[in-house]
Amino acid sequence: MNVVFSTMNYMHEEIREEMRKKFLEIYDKGSYILGTEVSQFEEEFADYLGTQYCIGVGNGLDALFLALSSLGITTGDEVIVPSNTYIATVLAISRTGGKPVLVDPNIDTYTLDPSLIEDAITEKTKAIIAVHLYGQSADMDLINSIAKKHHLFVIEDCAQSHHCLYHGKKTGTLGDIGCFSFYPGKNLGALGDAGCVVTNDSVIAQKVRALANYGSIQKYHHLYQGVNSRLDELQAGFLRIKLKRIEEYTQERIRLANQYLNGIVNPKIILPKLSKDSTHVFHVFAIRCESRDDLQQYLLEHGIQTIIHYPISIAKQPAYSDSHLNDLPIAEKISQEELSLPLYYGMSDEEIHYVIDVLNEY
Ligand SMILES: Cc1ncc(COP(=O)(O)O)c(C=O)c1O
Repeated sequence: MNVVFSTMNYMHEEIREEMRKKFLEIYDKGSYILGTEVSQFEEEFADYLGTQYCIGVGNGLDALFLALSSLGITTGDEVIVPSNTYIATVLAISRTGGKPVLVDPNIDTYTLDPSLIEDAITEKTKAIIAVHLYGQSADMDLINSIAKKHHLFVIEDCAQSHHCLYHGKKTGTLGDIGCFSFYPGKNLGALGDAGCVVTNDSVIAQKVRALANYGSIQKYHHLYQGVNSRLDELQAGFLRIKLKRIEEYTQERIRLANQYLNGIVNPKIILPKLSKDSTHVFHVFAIRCESRDDLQQYLLEHGIQTIIHYPISIAKQPAYSDSHLNDLPIAEKISQEELSLPLYYGMSDEEIHYVIDVLNEY
């Protein structure tokens, strides 16, 4: 049997006609940038999260960059960031001129270890970015209380945590600013690049909106040296259709993930550990294995595709070779042992059981 790592085919087949209708509606209307689809999506996403403001932007990296910029983070400022995130989180800091300060995650949850944060704080520290990696919330109560004590901003990177609940509240609403990616493969994905910034702060919201639109609120009046990073009408229209189904998509991922959690029994394999404070939406079903590369090859030989999130830690990336980023042991260990199993809306129980059986025989 062949099992692909991920496919959107099943999801997209179900909503094919609705998406086609939406495409034609926008196509015929002839308004493609900053129109009503975007403003309606922004309103619906803010309502859904329970936050006051939502600003559609071009992608998740821009969402993070615009969030940091709206807080005035610039050259010489330091921002604390987990050492094991996707590189976009760190690139966003570098783009402001600020310095990323890597802090290791907790080895059980893979999210920022709050006990290591205070040692990394200096008088230059301005903010902490909490990444809800793989789909489980970071320890936001502790992170927020450290931030409060040191007068730091908290930005949530929610690129992998759509519909994740921390103490019943959705990620994105727990810090000062939430940043989302709607890259097609995300748990809420557009049909191209897309993202958004959410906040309850009207000043931040207005600044992000201006920065994303050439620094302008009023046409041809430029308050800031902004960028062009806007969610477009087509992507907003497609996202509105998928947003209505996010609960269903998430519950199905959790149902499939539970089968892995209950079915995989192999002392060589470490399963994801569930936090008592957060739901897990399994954007990534991450296992660990000391002989990870061998396991990946074995699975491939049995027709099972897997991915490594992420094979090279940030500190070891050539892009940061001149930056002397601290090379941290937990990030290093995860980069050597992590393996992501196939998981997608529409995956059959037969496929899940096949993966479980093959893993248990390893
Ligand atoms: C944790 C994390 N942050 C940021 C991003 C960047 O999002 P985008 O690809 O939309 O720029 C991604 C996804 O790619 C991500 O996984």
